[in-house]
Amino acid sequence: MNEINDSKPTKKTKGIILAGGTGTRLYPNTIVVSKQLLPVYDKPLIYYPLSVLLLARISDILVITTRQDQAAYKHLLGDGSKIGINIQYEIQDRPGGLAEAFILGEEFIGDDNVCLVLGDNVLYGDSLSRLLCNTKKKIERDGGAAIFGYPVKNPEAFGVVEFDKDTRIVKSIEEKPEEPKSNYAVPGLYFYDNRVVEIAKAVEPSARGEKEITSVNNAYLEKGELSVSLLGRGMTWFDTGTPKNMYKAGGFVKTVQEMQGYYISCIEEIAWRKGFIDDETLELRGRELGNTEYGQYILSLLEEKKK
Ligand code: G1P
Repeated sequence: MNEINDSKPTKKTKGIILAGGTGTRLYPNTIVVSKQLLPVYDKPLIYYPLSVLLLARISDILVITTRQDQAAYKHLLGDGSKIGINIQYEIQDRPGGLAEAFILGEEFIGDDNVCLVLGDNVLYGDSLSRLLCNTKKKIERDGGAAIFGYPVKNPEAFGVVEFDKDTRIVKSIEEKPEEPKSNYAVPGLYFYDNRVVEIAKAVEPSARGEKEITSVNNAYLEKGELSVSLLGRGMTWFDTGTPKNMYKAGGFVKTVQEMQGYYISCIEEIAWRKGFIDDETLELRGRELGNTEYGQYILSLLEEKKK
C-alpha cells in the first residue's frame, strides 16, 4: 500500500446501500415486497446492512432502490433523522450492476470516499465495529480500496479471491468462477476512495450486461491499491439471496438474541451507542415501537444504563 502521508487532507466516508433488483430468486416472496424489506426474524433485512454503516460511524447514507419500491423505503427509514443520521434516496431503473451505484451516487458522493454495502448482506461479529472503523480510516488516510474475504463452502456463487499459492498475495478477484481458486468469497461490503466514481464509469459491462463490482476491485488491484482482509471464524456473513439463506439468517438472529439477550442490528441501539442520538430520543423510539420485544429491548437499554 501507499506510504502514509500525514500531510494529505483526511477524507470523509459516505455510505451507499444498494437495495435494487427484482429479487427473482426469492419469488413468490418478492413479487409484491422488495427483497430488502422482507423480515430477517424480527426486523427488515435492510436494517442489517444499515447497521454495518452505523457501526463504521457513517451517517450520510444513500439508499438506492427500484422506482416502484422507493416509497416503501422512505416510509420505513425516512430522512434518517429519527436515528440521528442523514438518508437520501436514488433510483436504479434497471439492473445495471453493482458498480452502477457509484455512477448513480456521483452527486451524493461528491469529493468524499464511499463504503458500499449490499442491501441483502448480513454481517455480524464481535470485532466488526473495530474492523469497520479501522478500514474506513485506512482508506481515508491512504486512499485505495478495501474488501474482505470470508470462507464458504460454495465460493462459485460469489466473487472469489484468488491467491498466489506461495505468497498468499492476492492475484485476482473472479466473479462467480466455475472453478474457484480459493474458498474465500467476497462479501458485499466495499470501501473505496473517491476515484471509484471514475473507475466505475470506465468499467465495461460483463457478458450479463452489468458493470460488475469485481471489475472495480480488479482495477484497484492492478494499481496495487486493493487491500483484502480475511475474516475469521468469529465473524458471521449471510448473503440472503435464497429462501434457505433468509431462513438460516433469521434462525441465527433469533438464536443469538435469545441466548445472549443482545440484539443484532437494532439500528436505534447502534445509533445511540455511536452517539447519533441521546437517551431521550432512544426512549422515544422504544415507546413508538410499543409493546414488541424489539421496543422493550430498546427501553431496557436505558434501564440498564441507570443501574
Ligand atoms: C454480488 C457480487 C459478488 C459478491 C456478492 C456478495 O453477487 O457480484 O461478487 O460476492 O454480491 O453478496 P450477487 O449476490 O449480486 O449475485
